[in-house]
Amino acid sequence: MVVYGELDAIARRLRRDARITVLTGAGISAASGVPTFRGAEGLWNEFRAEQLATLEAFARDPRLVWEWYDWRRQRIAACRPNAGHDVLAAWSRRFPHFTLITQNVDGLHERAGTRGVLRMHGSIWEVACWSGCAGSPARWTDEAVPLSEIPPRCIYCGGLIRPGVVWFGEALDPEIVGKCLEATRCDVFLTIGTSAVVHPAASLIEEARRRGAYTVEINLEPTPASAFVDVAVQGAAEQVLADIDRRLEQG
Ligand code: OAD
Repeated sequence: MVVYGELDAIARRLRRDARITVLTGAGISAASGVPTFRGAEGLWNEFRAEQLATLEAFARDPRLVWEWYDWRRQRIAACRPNAGHDVLAAWSRRFPHFTLITQNVDGLHERAGTRGVLRMHGSIWEVACWSGCAGSPARWTDEAVPLSEIPPRCIYCGGLIRPGVVWFGEALDPEIVGKCLEATRCDVFLTIGTSAVVHPAASLIEEARRRGAYTVEINLEPTPASAFVDVAVQGAAEQVLADIDRRLEQG
């Protein structure tokens, strides 16, 4: 149940000079039709992460892994940003000190026009040479849907390429982690549509709290973060964000 007085209080915190950081997870894209990972309809209910989203899985069976990513790319390509993405995109232009950190690889924040997105887990629209051949950049964009060949080939050396996402057991890009940590030094920290169980993303919420930020969670259900944030709003991100945005517009 959304307590409307809470939304007034959140809107009051979103002043023009406030440093605002938002962390999003799969729930922000749920209304667009992108499957989440956990919960009854979640991907990890139907598929086993260790067979599809690890280095070992790819080394064992690149075709299987690419078939799964090709299927996900096709699903995502058919989705459009929803009202939640749109509000955050508008805030990224409205507020001079606004940072959006996402765990999502779907690219919907970027498609909504959000400025300066920090992608903790990479992008499903990027690829990298599996063997890291000398002629290739670290990553490049490949938005072919469906892929013309599975497994797809490196345009530089003809070998295998891999999806530009972070798999289980892999390290995150230290530069991005550094920027995310820096962004926890803020006045308002909103965590939206994430189960808050995957680290280091989930630790950012605690870090922001420790550093004195006013912390807000927006989620359909309670998560481990609900216990320590200042306000836990239980509701759909696309509705709650639109409600808060309306309050901003009304001044
Ligand atoms: P999860 O699937 O773990 O959690 C999605 C969260 O969104 C749940 O807490 C839902 O209650 C909530 N939710 C669903 N629909 C919502 C809506 N309309 N409005 C608000 N909340 C909603 O997804 P993440 O937390 O993003 O990592 O998962 C974190 C990481 O685990 C992912 O980035 C992925 C996964 O394994 C990698 O692939 C490395």
